[in-house]
Amino acid sequence: MKTRLSVTLVTLATLTTIVLPGVSISDAAAEVNVYSTRKPQLIQPMFDVFTAASGIEVNVVFAEKGMLEKLRSEGVNSPADLVFTADIGPLSDIKNAGLTQAVQSTALDNNIPASMRDPEHHWFGLTSRARIIVTSKDRVGDGDVTTYEDLAEPKFKGMICTRSGKHAYMVALTAAMIVHHGAARAEQWLTGLKANLARRPEGNDRAQVKAIKQGACDIAVINHYYMHKMLADPKQKPWSDAVRVVFPNQTGQTGQTGQTGRGTHMNISGMAMTKHAPNRDHALQLMEFLASEKAQQMYAQLNGEYAVKPGVALADSVQAWGDFKRDHVDLAEVASYRREASKMADRVGYDD
Ligand SMILES: [Fe+2]
Repeated sequence: MKTRLSVTLVTLATLTTIVLPGVSISDAAAEVNVYSTRKPQLIQPMFDVFTAASGIEVNVVFAEKGMLEKLRSEGVNSPADLVFTADIGPLSDIKNAGLTQAVQSTALDNNIPASMRDPEHHWFGLTSRARIIVTSKDRVGDGDVTTYEDLAEPKFKGMICTRSGKHAYMVALTAAMIVHHGAARAEQWLTGLKANLARRPEGNDRAQVKAIKQGACDIAVINHYYMHKMLADPKQKPWSDAVRVVFPNQTGQTGQTGQTGRGTHMNISGMAMTKHAPNRDHALQLMEFLASEKAQQMYAQLNGEYAVKPGVALADSVQAWGDFKRDHVDLAEVASYRREASKMADRVGYDD
């Protein structure tokens, strides 16, 4: 297994002398094998720093789909030590399928808040992300849309666009609505949202912002870090300049699940160690590095994600939106409603 990207945002030559927490210089032939549903360019810079400091090679297999099946079919012979996903859903699926092992680590426990890791120590969040609403600066008034519930209001008919209702990010949002409102009201909401779509769901989150810029729709739901990424891309910056960032569900009653002031829906990217990890010690070193100050800073600055480690500075573009209230609903509970949320998307014909 050898996958190395030439794209790296850090100069390795300057990093070889940095001593990193949890990383010890060891056998140059040492390696860690990673299966990732996260795009390689989002994690390779951190792996490069780790390798430069530890001498441990990180081999990445990018598998957007089918990771669970791959791990299951490989069984005890799987070369994979660690799995990385961009969503709590696939991570908890892999755990629930019995394909991971518990990892006890004081460093991980100290750097990752308890709400962002599995109580049974199988999965660990590395970054968190807000599912925000963006609205056209020209065609939607400031304050016209403030909650996820608003998206189902008939007054927005023909104005909204999103990616597929079956994509993990949308499924997680629907699952969170089930947690907050119960299945029946969540289905009413999804039906209302579907009825407001300007077009059949297509493309990724960035494509929705582009569609607003082009006038195909006026309101979209996206993960926050795509705004950070688009702002840094000369071709995409005009798309992001056309929209206003709305952190949903900031005001109104709080304290009980389902109330409008409960905060913005959050998700995590995370990691887990496979049940049969052949390079367990090296894999643990990589896990601890990724939760360390250095790697958490890289996640925040390069990707525009929220670090899970408290106190790590945000990217400037993300900082500029100010602080916001987060929905602290239990992510494992949200994940437990994913199957139901996915079926709900089929029932309302979300992608039809
Ligand atoms: Fe993403």
